[in-house]
Amino acid sequence: MNAPLKIAIAGLGTVGGGVVKALTARGEALSGRAGRKLEIVAACDRDESKKSGLDARVWVNDLHAIAQSAADVVVELIGGENGAAPSLVEESLKAGKHVVTANKAMMARHGVRLAVLAEEKNLALKFEAAVAGGIPIVKSLRESLFVYGVSAIRGILNGTCNYILTQMEATGRSFEEVLKDAQRLGYAEADPTLDVGGGDTAHKLALLTGLAFGVKPDLDGMAVQGIAHITPEDISFAREFGYRIKLLGIAKITPQGLDLRVQPAMVNAGTPLADVDGVFNGIVADTKQAGPYFFEGRGAGEAPTANAVIADIVDIARGNRGPAFGVPAASLLTLTAAPAGSASSPFYLRFQVLDVPGVLAEIAGHLAKWRVSIESMIQRGRAPGEAVSIVMITHETTHAAVAGALETIAASDKVVAPPCMIPMEAK
Ligand SMILES: NC(=O)c1ccc[n+]([C@@H]2O[C@H](COP(=O)([O-])OP(=O)(O)OC[C@H]3O[C@@H](n4cnc5c(N)ncnc54)[C@H](OP(=O)(O)O)[C@@H]3O)[C@@H](O)[C@H]2O)c1
Repeated sequence: MNAPLKIAIAGLGTVGGGVVKALTARGEALSGRAGRKLEIVAACDRDESKKSGLDARVWVNDLHAIAQSAADVVVELIGGENGAAPSLVEESLKAGKHVVTANKAMMARHGVRLAVLAEEKNLALKFEAAVAGGIPIVKSLRESLFVYGVSAIRGILNGTCNYILTQMEATGRSFEEVLKDAQRLGYAEADPTLDVGGGDTAHKLALLTGLAFGVKPDLDGMAVQGIAHITPEDISFAREFGYRIKLLGIAKITPQGLDLRVQPAMVNAGTPLADVDGVFNGIVADTKQAGPYFFEGRGAGEAPTANAVIADIVDIARGNRGPAFGVPAASLLTLTAAPAGSASSPFYLRFQVLDVPGVLAEIAGHLAKWRVSIESMIQRGRAPGEAVSIVMITHETTHAAVAGALETIAASDKVVAPPCMIPMEAK
């Protein structure tokens, strides 16, 4: 057998702990796959109690010692967009070590710079676990689904949001109530902002665009909306129209540029993405005449994420060290984003209005001014003088046209709450 592959692990939390457990419990089988023994030679965490289960001799006290250890591969599992994580990765690459990471925030922000450094030194920088946990989407886009090019990616990339939306649909409870439950059950963080605000999905979508379209991941050019404004009523209306609401990361090639956004969307019931429930993730990759492909699986958790990390380690052990984003990082293009508001689809619109004569005509008039035409409409119940919901489905139009009409409509004294607009995704 070849010389052992020496591994240093920084961060022994959920993912790092899982990696150590799997390497220990399945060492022989994994070494068989790798063609060489996989040996942990250094490990570090802020919390020394996490060294139990490890050979005490491998414990080191700081990240600098990880980067300067005898390891061939440094596995970064401490997390964080800036600060210690990118510093560790940079120092490790400069010290001639391959790097495996699960850190989407760091890769979305610093991935290109780190990949350039890795490639200059002929080292691997791998990040399968950073997108959709156990689903091998990074490897699939990087090493397989490139022949005809990718025309669109649509993904449910955040298990917390998908769990919340699934529970809201199943129970009819509000976003706030379900979020509290999700926090109690450990499916949502104490500070859920990054998940429910769409930021986590944005990190993953940025990485997918790099892999799929050969462009530099760009967080700043992305429109990002979360799920906090979705109501049980929206979910129930969606069902009535034959749709389910999902938080999607969307990247589509359009004649105006790359349409890149994170937002709740109506997805046709019965299509693969609509059926992705609970904490699961799902991704559809349209690969022109070779596609589409659909992936579904666990997007987080100890075992799926450790699986992805170790698969990357095994790849390195076998000598598979191609560029992080599939093409040399220095050749990644600066993406041309489609102009804000140019995304085009039918839209679901919900208005909370006073049930008074003329309200419908007023809304229809504003929509017509923006050339937004209505395909169908529901007004549920009658409560003269009180608030009722009016829901409309538009024909295909642009986000900018709907947003323009809604701004005027929201200013009406007959409209009692900000209108809700949700695009309807065809697939
Ligand atoms: N959990 C998942 O299911 C999952 C899925 C996909 C990707 N990821 C990514 O995987 C990475 C790790 O996530 P995780 O869930 O395993 O996090 P975690 O449970 O919080 O583990 C991180 C560990 O690293 C330690 N740490 C942080 N900064 C350190 C430093 N400067 N020096 C030494 N130790 C440090 C932490 O200590 P303290 O607790 O004291 O801070 C903690 O023990 C993140 O980038 C995350 O986004 C996680």
